[in-house]
Amino acid sequence: IPIVVLISGSGSNLQALIDTQDDTNIRIAAVISNQQGVRGLERAQEAGIPAIVLNHTEYDSREAFDQALISEIDSHQPELVILAGFMRILTPEMTNHYHGRMMNIHPSLLPKYKGLHTHKRALEAGDNVHGVTVHFVSSELDGGPPIIQARVPVKATDNQESLQKRVLLQEHIIYPVAVGWFAAGRLKLDGDTAILDDRPL
Ligand code: GRF
Repeated sequence: IPIVVLISGSGSNLQALIDTQDDTNIRIAAVISNQQGVRGLERAQEAGIPAIVLNHTEYDSREAFDQALISEIDSHQPELVILAGFMRILTPEMTNHYHGRMMNIHPSLLPKYKGLHTHKRALEAGDNVHGVTVHFVSSELDGGPPIIQARVPVKATDNQESLQKRVLLQEHIIYPVAVGWFAAGRLKLDGDTAILDDRPL
């Protein structure tokens, strides 16, 4: 299935999706970044995927930016839109438009630690398990129905960087899994519930 991936940075999750395109039955039709000059755009180009920059600072409002983003995304006719380190808060207009066909990955065991600095917060709380969640996007930031999580043990010696690294390794495993389920028609959103093979998740 055709998908569009939105990024703002390094794009390591994008890379994981690029590398698994054949297995997951996806075709990345375009990569869109709100930041220019980022590594993720190079990764797209290296893979022969159209790499597009839409700079949010060139728009008067969040609504105007999201309108432009929707037009750009839809011009590629994706069946699924993937947020992979896309550091923008989306308008309800945007999240409603892609209801049931937009996913995000968030580096925490949601509903814990929505928002930024998740690794720092997990360490400060003394958690012995941290992790990552792929979820369908809803209008609530990091609040949509979860699809898959990976748990990552926290070591006594961990700092933010070491923990983030181990979480990222898991991200690269579970994002292609979730996307593959969707592409295979096994995963759907029914109201507020993610359904895998007719079973609520
Ligand atoms: C990841 O930690 C992801 O969970 C978060 O943003 C980061 C993106 O990393 N949403 P990358 O750009 O995929 O390397």
